[in-house]
Amino acid sequence: MEPRFSARLTALQASPIRQILAVANRPHMISFAGGLPARECFPSFDLKVPPAVLQYGPTEGDDALRERLCEDLVQLGLPVTTDQIVILSGSQQGIDLVAKLFIDAGTCVASESPTYLAALQVFRFFGARFAPFTPADVENGNPFRERPAFAYVIPTFQNPTGYCYSDAERKALSRACDRETIPVFEDDPYRDLAYDPCDRRPVCAYLQKSPWIYQGSFSKTLAPGLRLGFLAASQMFVPHLVRLKQAADLHSNRLSQWLVLDALKHPDREARLAAIVEMYRRKRDTFDRVLHEYFSDLAHWEKPRGGLFFWLQLKVPIDTRLLLDSTLAHGVAFMPGEPFYVGSSPQPTATLRLAFTHASESEALSGLKILSAQLRRFRDEACVTNRALSHP
Ligand SMILES: Cc1ncc(COP(=O)(O)O)c(C=O)c1O
Repeated sequence: MEPRFSARLTALQASPIRQILAVANRPHMISFAGGLPARECFPSFDLKVPPAVLQYGPTEGDDALRERLCEDLVQLGLPVTTDQIVILSGSQQGIDLVAKLFIDAGTCVASESPTYLAALQVFRFFGARFAPFTPADVENGNPFRERPAFAYVIPTFQNPTGYCYSDAERKALSRACDRETIPVFEDDPYRDLAYDPCDRRPVCAYLQKSPWIYQGSFSKTLAPGLRLGFLAASQMFVPHLVRLKQAADLHSNRLSQWLVLDALKHPDREARLAAIVEMYRRKRDTFDRVLHEYFSDLAHWEKPRGGLFFWLQLKVPIDTRLLLDSTLAHGVAFMPGEPFYVGSSPQPTATLRLAFTHASESEALSGLKILSAQLRRFRDEACVTNRALSHP
C-alpha cells in the first residue's frame, strides 16, 4: 500500500534553485545561479574546541553570542535586549518559524514581488496567499491592498533585484505598517556587503507601534556551511518563536555558534570584512563592464550597490526558463526570474538573476559571452516567429 502523505506536502514544490544548483555544480559549468559567496572569502578556524560546546545547549542560543549580537543590533538602531535574540540554524529557519507563527491556509502575507523564492516556497507550504507590493507602492504610501498577517521585506540589497530602499522609502514602509499595526518581518542577510554608500538603517528601527521580527545571517560574510543566523523580535513574539524552534531542532549547532562568536570578536574582523567587500566590489565592476559589452542591446539593469546579484530586465519578452535549458547545454547556469514572483504559475517575465560573486573574472567574461549569444539566438527566433504570426 502507498504511504499517505500530509495534504500540505502537495504544496511543496522542489526548489528551482536547488535543482539548478545540482546541475550548476557539474565540472566546467560556469554558474551565476546560486547566491554563493566566493570560496576565497571563507575564514580559517583554529579548532581547539572546549568540550562544553559539544553538550546540548539552550534553544535561544548561547548567551555570549546573543549578548554580542545584541550590542551590534543596538548600534543599528533596534531597541533590543539580549533576551529578544534567538540564534537560528541559518536565517532560512527564521522564515520557517515566522511562517509557523502566522500562516494558516488562506492567510494573507504582504511581500515584495519579485522576492526571495525560498521564502515564497515556505509561505506557500503553510497555505499563504500573497498581497504583492513594490518599492514604488511603498513610496506612494499605500503598499497593502488588504490587511496582511505580516509584511515580509528585504529592504537592503534585495534578493533577487539588488534594490536598496532609500531612507524615505524605509520610513514610508514603517509608517504604512504602523498605521494598521501590521507586523514587519525584515530579512537582512546582505547588509554588510555594501559597495557604495546607501541607507541601511533597518525598517524595524523606524517602527513606533507595529511589532517586528528582524533577521540576519552569517552565510554571506562568514560561511553558509556553518548554517547560522539570528533573529531579534518584539517581546510578544519571542516565547512563541523559541517554542517553535525547540520543536524543530532543540537548538542550533553549538560548534558553529562558538566559531561565529570567535570570528565576531576577532581583532581582524573589520579588516576581513573590508577585504571581502573590496573583492566583491571589483567583481561587481568587472561584471558590469562585461554586461555593457554584451548585453547593452539585450537588457536593462542597475548596477547593484551591494549584495550578490544583478537583475536583468530583457528587452525581448522571452521565457527565461526556456533560455536556461539552452544555456545549460552550453555550460552556463543562471536563475530565471519567473520563480521569484508571487503568482503560483508566473507568466514569462523576461527577467533573470545573475550572481556575480562566485564565478572568477575570466569565467564571468566567457559565461556572459555565451549567455548573450544564446539570448540573441532566442531573440532572433522570437522575431521570426512573431513575423510569421503577423504575416501568415
Ligand atoms: C533574502 C534571504 N533570506 C534568507 C536566506 C537564507 O540564508 P541562510 O539560511 O543561509 O542564512 C537567503 C539566502 O540566500 C536570502 O537571500
